[in-house]
Amino acid sequence: MNTNYNCIQILKLIKTNLEDNIEWGEENVYGDMNIVQNQDSMLTELKQKISKCRKCNLGNERINIVFGVGNSNASLMLIGEAPGYEEDHQGEPFVGKAGQLLTKIINAIGYNRQDIYITNIVKCHPMKNIINCNKRDNNRPPTIYEINHCMQYLEKQIDIIKPKIIVTLGSSATKGLLNIDVNISIVRGTIMKYKNIIVIPTYHPAALLRNNNLKKYVWADMKQIRKYLLL
Ligand code: URA
Repeated sequence: MNTNYNCIQILKLIKTNLEDNIEWGEENVYGDMNIVQNQDSMLTELKQKISKCRKCNLGNERINIVFGVGNSNASLMLIGEAPGYEEDHQGEPFVGKAGQLLTKIINAIGYNRQDIYITNIVKCHPMKNIINCNKRDNNRPPTIYEINHCMQYLEKQIDIIKPKIIVTLGSSATKGLLNIDVNISIVRGTIMKYKNIIVIPTYHPAALLRNNNLKKYVWADMKQIRKYLLL
């Protein structure tokens, strides 16, 4: 009788513990999902809001706003310069030749494009000459005026995603985000800060397509980035 009673008490205790664990587990899972869903919907809302932006001349020339893609809860955020011809047509950042190289670089440190968040400092396609809008080699870097007008959108994206590390690709992204006038070859690989978030500038993948010698520097920077991500 006593043994039976003890067994029932023990079983009851185990049942309560299991229920507690399941509840805790579910709460945590739903908690995380809520944060991600929230970040997703905040980004969607922001994208919607800026879809008709005409703050600068690029708003009248673009086909698509290239807002950004990837994980809204990413630890790693990559920021490029501005959409080119391919990106303007497809509405997605880094889908041309430089983008293909960028995907390889991301894969080389063990990540996929879906794991991270990719965007640009300027969301519309800057063209050398609007008359040549059907030509692929008509891209140009954004002006300071265009960067300054677009920066508030990037700031909001960063506030929503709260990445652990930001990597700026090339001069425009580095100068624009950090508000400094520097040469990328001097600052690449150095640890900088944007609102308490680590920023590591590196060369733009398009620069690597032009100059193969730069690959070793980007590889060194990427290894450092991976180290900080794992901390
Ligand atoms: N270069 C960039 O800086 N961004 C893109 O999205 C594509 C090419």
